[in-house]
Order: sequence, then structure tokens, then C-alpha cells
Amino acid sequence: MILDIVSYPDPRLKSICKPVEKVTQDLRILADNMLQTMYAAPGVGLAAPQVGQFIRMVVVDYSAKEDLRMPRVLINPVLELKGEVIVSEREGCLSVPMGYRSNVPRYSHVHLTARDLDWKLIDEELEDFPAIVVQHETDHLDGILFIDRISRLKRTFFDSKVKKWLRRQK
Ligand code: NI
Repeated sequence: MILDIVSYPDPRLKSICKPVEKVTQDLRILADNMLQTMYAAPGVGLAAPQVGQFIRMVVVDYSAKEDLRMPRVLINPVLELKGEVIVSEREGCLSVPMGYRSNVPRYSHVHLTARDLDWKLIDEELEDFPAIVVQHETDHLDGILFIDRISRLKRTFFDSKVKKWLRRQK
């Protein structure tokens, strides 16, 4: 099932999400629906709060190839940020309107730990694009959007564009 995606400036996107305690049938269904929603968008990642579920779960596919899908479900992801600060070019988000994109500072490497749907431990080192994707998605679980990581000037410009855009939607 394709789920509705919560869009900025909805305050629910600022929620601090709760850890998942165990995998239930409902959680499996949610993960499956989130993957379908992500692929339909299309996107490379989607976090539970973006579909109005305030739990620490994200889905990602950083293969970015339509013919070779590599869906992953990350439960309670924890990142250790490593390496150097790099520029994530033209980052976007399914919850940020107008298809707005911006360069965002990110770390080049992360050490990721998480659980999968079988509650198996995921423990890996990621770099470059996969590292950026998990940083973006894990941020959502703490109520942070990529537009919270851009310069004050760009953010002010973006917010005024969104305001005008929202007025036109009514
Ligand atoms: Ni996002």
C-alpha cells in the first residue's frame, strides 16, 4: 500500500521518534508499505515519521538502480559519524516541497549499527552515497530535515518560497 507522505512545514516532522522494542506483524506491514511508498515516489530512503509513525525505523535502497533493487529496513539505527565533512550535492527529501534541493554538509563515512526485521544485528561501515543516505534518514528520527542543515540565508529564501507556494495551493 502506498502511504501518504507528511510534508514540511508539518510539525510532526520535528518529532523525536521512539525506539522499536520488537518486530510485530504490524511493523513488518509498515516496513513493506514504506518500501512501496519509497519506490513509488521514487526515492532512495524513507523514515517512519514521514508516514506519521513516530518510531525509529527507516527504509533505504542506495543501489539507486531500478533493475536491481536492494531494499533494506533499518530498525533503531545508530550512527557513528566518521571521516571528513563532504558536500552532499543537491540533496532532496520526499517531505520537502517543490522538489527543493540543496548542497548539505555530511560526513564521508559512518559506522552503522541497527536491527533488521529478523532482529539480526546490522553492523557495517558505509561511505559516500550510502553514508549520506543513512545520515539523512536517521536525522528524520530526531526531527531533523536537510533544510535544517543548510545556511541561514538559503533557509530564509526557501521558507519564503514555500510560504508563497502554500498560498497558491489553497
Ligand atoms: Ni528525507
